[in-house]
Amino acid sequence: MLIIAHRGASTLAPENTLKAFTLAFEQQSDGIEFDTYQHDDAILVFHDKTLGRTTNGSGFLLQTSLADLKQLDAGDGEVIPTLEEVLATVPNGALCNIEVKHLRNAETWVQDVKRAVEDAQINPNALLISSFNHHWLAEISALWPQVAVGALTATYALDATYCARQLKAKSINIALDVVNADFVNAAKQEGLDVYVYTVDEPEDMLQLKLWGVTGIFTNVPDIAKQVVG
Ligand code: G3P
Ligand code: MG
Repeated sequence: MLIIAHRGASTLAPENTLKAFTLAFEQQSDGIEFDTYQHDDAILVFHDKTLGRTTNGSGFLLQTSLADLKQLDAGDGEVIPTLEEVLATVPNGALCNIEVKHLRNAETWVQDVKRAVEDAQINPNALLISSFNHHWLAEISALWPQVAVGALTATYALDATYCARQLKAKSINIALDVVNADFVNAAKQEGLDVYVYTVDEPEDMLQLKLWGVTGIFTNVPDIAKQVVG
């Protein structure tokens, strides 16, 4: 079972910062998950719409210039990173899950991400693009059919894998609150990978490993490595 650092090693370092991603790989994580916004001037790695929770700034991320955003403290003196800066921390072969929180224009997004992936010499097979917004994933897939997409869901729908089938997704990425053994079996029978978020308790890690999930997103990759690594 793959151990993917959720927003980096985000218990010991500020979430979605270079420090958190570097630490995740030092702790032997199999990959990283991070959240992205397509800002006018860059693709930024950040979780919230607003700046207050994780930086010393205020207001909306997308309404703040890149120059002003780069002045903010995102914790421990870290700055809000761009996609390019984060990809530079990813070792060869590690899974890189880009979660799309905001898509302004799919064409420019695909162009920019392809270029960033090439520049960082990331193997495109190690990429997974996910979003709760499945329309955005469909737009991205239409422009970039080779890239793997993961359908994020916080619900256990009646037709549990419908969204992944529609998207021809590689994976379904489901919330810990709603996942169960039947769901995992159904998804795996359809050839889907199953990732579960956010898994920080050892008993949950052990249960998910027994059910045969592909990977977990965790804020504590060091503990996950000890328990199920
Ligand atoms: O991609 C899994 C997980 O990160 C989705 O929820 O809110 O932590 O981005 P969130
Ligand atoms: Mg996320």
